[in-house]
Amino acid sequence: MSGDLRLRAVVKGVGSALPKRCVTNKELESTVDTSDEWIVQRTGIKQRYIAADDETTSTLGIAAARVALERAGLTPDDIDLVVCATSTPDYTFPSTATMIQAGLGITRGVAFDLQAVCAGFVFAVSTAEKFLLSGSHKRALVIGAETFSRILDWEDRTTCVLFGDGAGAIVLEAQEQPDQGQGDNLPRGILASCLRSDGKHRAKLYVDGGPSTTKTVGFLRMEGKEVFKFAVGQVTDVMAETFAACGITAQDLDWFVPHQANRRIIDASAQKFGIPPEKVVTTVQDHGNTSAASIPLALAVACDDGRIKPGDLVMIEAIGGGFTWGAAIIRW
Ligand code: UT7
Repeated sequence: MSGDLRLRAVVKGVGSALPKRCVTNKELESTVDTSDEWIVQRTGIKQRYIAADDETTSTLGIAAARVALERAGLTPDDIDLVVCATSTPDYTFPSTATMIQAGLGITRGVAFDLQAVCAGFVFAVSTAEKFLLSGSHKRALVIGAETFSRILDWEDRTTCVLFGDGAGAIVLEAQEQPDQGQGDNLPRGILASCLRSDGKHRAKLYVDGGPSTTKTVGFLRMEGKEVFKFAVGQVTDVMAETFAACGITAQDLDWFVPHQANRRIIDASAQKFGIPPEKVVTTVQDHGNTSAASIPLALAVACDDGRIKPGDLVMIEAIGGGFTWGAAIIRW
């Protein structure tokens, strides 16, 4: 019934943090056999940020979370759930989420990491939403934070030019919202999400080390063409399902904020659904592929420059190693 209320996970604030050092394509030309022209043409990337030794996944996550809390008008004491999406934790354990929790001075609630590689932020948003809708927790910090520079083989030009470091965070709050509504009366918050995994694709994108196998951290390995094909060919299933679950179409979206891996993948996904370029938030040129951090970094840019406003309909979407992939629609 339309007069009924139900809990929704509503976005209260967004923040981001980047390492101090910006590395341009030109700078990479001096260390690896590549060119600014190749990188821009094939990926759209012009620069990326690379963390110094004292900038870690947790320090970047803490900085992003502080901004998100400030924008939300909240303090660390208001948070009872911290979910950090990362594939590059500071340590094998404890989780980066608990380090962020401690760094912010939060002493209650629960904090844990979630690992779904580049789809990690979408998985984390969807997971945090389920906690908030259950009534068990009230306010969540959802963070995507990565230092992929630490797992790159800097002699492999097919991967090292693609990735960067950074972190983004959003605060989600459980709020009573109208159960249903159409058009401008759609409730605020996460309206739907759809997640998928298929482990048979492991060899196309993986890290060749880990505590239980090589006892090392390992390096990222990727069959770029295969990942590209999957990303533009098959991941649209989660987008279609998420639109259907909300009862809206791509034409109703105000903003499409996809994972930022490659400009050509972003353009192709948007075109499939007829989303015009002016509604697509693209930051891959400035940040490179920051894996789980890419979507919240892009959200922060588009909120800070005034594009994403309260009431807007926003779709986030990503695909990562595994493969893992997912999409969510949020009414801001
Ligand atoms: O976050 C999710 C995971 N990642 C992705 O979504 C990435 C998906 N894949 C891609 O974005 C693209 O496949 C890449 C950007 C990785 C590669 O683009 P491509 O158009 O598929 O190029 P390619 O791998 O077919 O390589 C074309 C040529 C090759 O030379 P030959 O064999 O044609 O002589 C490569 O050796 O480009 C060469 N190449 C480079 N040249 C200059 C590969 N890397 C570089 C480089 N600089 N950095």
